[in-house]
Amino acid sequence: EKGRLMFAGEIDFLKGVVAMDGLPPADRMEVCFAGRSNVGKSSLINALTGRKNLARASNTPGRTQEINYFTAGDQYLVDLPGYGYAEAPVAIVEKWQRLLKAYLSGRQTLRRAFVLIDTRHGVKAVDEEIMALLDRSAVAFQVVLTKADKVGKVEQERILGQVRGAMAKHPAAYPELVMTSSEKGDGIETLRAIIATLE
Ligand code: GTP
Ligand code: MG
Repeated sequence: EKGRLMFAGEIDFLKGVVAMDGLPPADRMEVCFAGRSNVGKSSLINALTGRKNLARASNTPGRTQEINYFTAGDQYLVDLPGYGYAEAPVAIVEKWQRLLKAYLSGRQTLRRAFVLIDTRHGVKAVDEEIMALLDRSAVAFQVVLTKADKVGKVEQERILGQVRGAMAKHPAAYPELVMTSSEKGDGIETLRAIIATLE
């Protein structure tokens, strides 16, 4: 199908953007991956595309410092800098946080934002802030739980309950949650299918 083909080979890094006027032309729809620093955004893009080092991942929070665009057929995949704690100078972090918020509230062609939540930690105050921003901007978002391989079944269920409770308060949130492990591949096919069906 379309999605399968799209993710098989034609994925390419397009550009890293540091200011709103550097965004590529809004000529196709895009999905983005938002979440706290180190939650696994870049790793998830690699898992989805089956390309190990397409998006650069690392254990240092604050690894991704630009809005990174990838072309995937007739869509853009967008890897965002993290929010919350980051190992980078304060002035630089503040600059990219402003850009992140401007992007999330002002990109016409943003079809869906995936908000990533670490399965070990659940929804934090900074996540609530971003979700509230998406509500206000009427950007549809969907929560993706990451690093599911790091916790047992019982804890997974507990966090799912917590996240469902948090979601209920957000009008822009899709009720369907996707639990993933970029490491083990869990949930990746499901998420790929979701992205492939967006138009
Ligand atoms: P920033 O760009 O700094 O905001 O981080 P990010 O959200 O892009 O996270 P990144 O993908 O760089 O991953 C952070 C760390 O988590 C890396 O060491 C990854 O290897 C690890 N990681 C990501 N996803 C998973 C997962 O599903 N399971 C496990 N066990 N580790 C993961
Ligand atoms: Mg990253």
